[in-house]
Amino acid sequence: MYKTLIYEKKDTIGILTINRPDKMNVISNELTSELRSLIGELEKDEKLRVLIITGAGEKAFVAGADIKELVDRDAKIGRRVSRERQEVFSRIENLAVPVIAAVNGYALGGGLELALACNIRICSEKAQFGAPEVKLGIIPGDGGTQRLPRLVGLGRAMEMILTGDFIDAQEAHRIGLVNNVYSPGELMDKAMELAQKIASRPPLAIRYAKEAVNRSQEGDAASGFSLESYLHALTCTTEDKKEGVAAFLEKRKGKFKGK
Ligand code: COA
Repeated sequence: MYKTLIYEKKDTIGILTINRPDKMNVISNELTSELRSLIGELEKDEKLRVLIITGAGEKAFVAGADIKELVDRDAKIGRRVSRERQEVFSRIENLAVPVIAAVNGYALGGGLELALACNIRICSEKAQFGAPEVKLGIIPGDGGTQRLPRLVGLGRAMEMILTGDFIDAQEAHRIGLVNNVYSPGELMDKAMELAQKIASRPPLAIRYAKEAVNRSQEGDAASGFSLESYLHALTCTTEDKKEGVAAFLEKRKGKFKGK
């Protein structure tokens, strides 16, 4: 039993719901560790054919890392947390079965990064996507600087990461961040429909096709991830990070000094 996740199985299709709806499903250390355990179980489930990941409630898929836990994140913790989340998200990306993100609301920061680690993304008309880390004085640490440019191109990824601005579902569709946009009521049915279609194909062909397509994206990814993690850790040491996190929690505009 998990506190922050709900996992159910419909025949051969798994549905993982990130379940902290009162907190916009934000990623805490507890949630990361539960996600790691669940993915470990799924890696052993030979009957599983497709996994769908969504968020609980009406508002959010996942609105990022839990900013309360950022208060004490120094370089050492930043490096460790970033590596742990990169590792769990990479295991999702490389799970033997395809993973579909059904993005039902805000997918921000680590939530965007979770959606990017999934193999296919669809969303509801209410979804919004963004990488607001720079506004907190840090940079993405869960794979975003590596996966976003690969998916939407360097310029668009750069704009999202450097401005921290959100984009809506239609724009996400236009730039190829999501494959399709549906009404909120339709989203899970459409995710199931897609999952069932893939699940009806020969499992080994699906498994190896996924692996081959994933490999096509690899340059020297390990170095990119490692660099991202060190730079994320570095931003955790700045005064601007302290100010950015405090400003969010105190519901005021941050004043940054470049220190
Ligand atoms: N970490 C911790 N708490 C968060 C959070 C986060 N990433 N995102 C939202 N929350 C909390 C809010 O503090 C608020 O808590 P409260 O009710 O105790 O005050 C609650 O969730 C609802 O959020 P609120 O801001 O009131 O809702 P909204 O609809 O006005 O705005 C968001 C929603 C998601 C746009 C806004 O909350 C936001 O920008 N969140 C931060 C996103 C972010 O920077 N993520 C990356 C972190 S690295």
